[in-house]
Amino acid sequence: MCAMASHLARALQLTLLDYSSSRGIGFELVRQLLASPDNLVVAACRNPATATALHDLKDSTRGVLHVIHMDVSHFDSVRASAKVLEPILGETGLDYLINNAGIAARDTAFTLDPDELLRIFRTNVVGPAIVSQTCLPFLQKGKRKIILNISSTAGSIATVEEIGARNTSYSISKAALNMLTLKQKAEWPDIITITLCPGWVKTDMGGEEAYVETEESISKILALITSATAADSGKFLRYNGEAIPW
Ligand SMILES: NC(=O)c1ccc[n+]([C@@H]2O[C@H](COP(=O)([O-])OP(=O)(O)OC[C@H]3O[C@@H](n4cnc5c(N)ncnc54)[C@H](OP(=O)(O)O)[C@@H]3O)[C@@H](O)[C@H]2O)c1
Repeated sequence: MCAMASHLARALQLTLLDYSSSRGIGFELVRQLLASPDNLVVAACRNPATATALHDLKDSTRGVLHVIHMDVSHFDSVRASAKVLEPILGETGLDYLINNAGIAARDTAFTLDPDELLRIFRTNVVGPAIVSQTCLPFLQKGKRKIILNISSTAGSIATVEEIGARNTSYSISKAALNMLTLKQKAEWPDIITITLCPGWVKTDMGGEEAYVETEESISKILALITSATAADSGKFLRYNGEAIPW
C-alpha cells in the first residue's frame, strides 16, 4: 500500500494495461515501457506465479510495475479484475489499454475444427471486447484514452489472396477484432481505437523464420501509440505506421 501511495503521488506520464505479458510481444512491451520512471504498467497474465521474467523486471527497471492475473477467455474473472484495478488506476485513470493476447491454429476453411474456431474467437475477439468493457471507466478517466487491439494482416479481407487458405480460424478472428475496433470507435469517439499488426515477429507464435525482432516491433509500436491523435482513430496499421488495407 505504501509503495502504491508514493507512485500515485508522482506525476505519471503514462499508465498502461498490457494484456497479456508473460512472453512474446506483451513481455517486450512491458520491458520497454518500464525503462521510464514516469510509466506505470499493469501487466496482466494468466499465471503470475510462473511469470518470473516479468517479476524480475521489477529489479532492473525504473517504472512502476503491477502484475495481475487475467485470463481473457474467462469473462467473469476479467470483469472481477475491475476490483483489482480500482486501487491501482482509480485515481489516475488508464491512458493505454493494449489487448495483446492471441492464439492461432494451422487450419483451413474445409478442415477447421469447430471447437477450435470457437476457442480462438473467444480469446482473440470476445476477450478484448470484455477487457475493453471492464477498462472503460478507467480509460474515461485517463489523459490519453487509447485502446490498441493487436490484430494481424491475416485479418485483412482485402489481401486474403496473399495468405491463401491457411490459418483460417485465426484470420476470421482478427477480421472480427478489426470490426470490434471500429465499433468501439463508433460508440466512444473520444477514445482513440487502433487495430495494429505487429509485423511477423520472432516470438513463439511468429517462429524463428520471422524477420522482425521484438525490440524493433515494440519500439515502433510505442512511438506510434504515444504520438497517436484522434485522426488515427479507427485505423488498421502496421507496426511501422503504414496503413493496411481492410
Ligand atoms: N508474432 C507474430 O508474428 C504476430 C503477427 C501478427 C500478429 N500477432 C499478434 O500479436 C499478439 C501477441 O503474439 P505473440 O507473437 O507475442 O504470441 P505468443 O508468443 O504466442 O504469446 C501469446 C501471449 O498470449 C497469451 N495468451 C494466450 N491466451 C491467453 C488467455 N486466454 N488469457 C491470457 N493470455 C493469453 C499468452 O500467455 P501464456 O504465456 O499464459 O500462454 C502469451 O503471453 C497476438 O494477438 C498475435 O495474434 C503476432
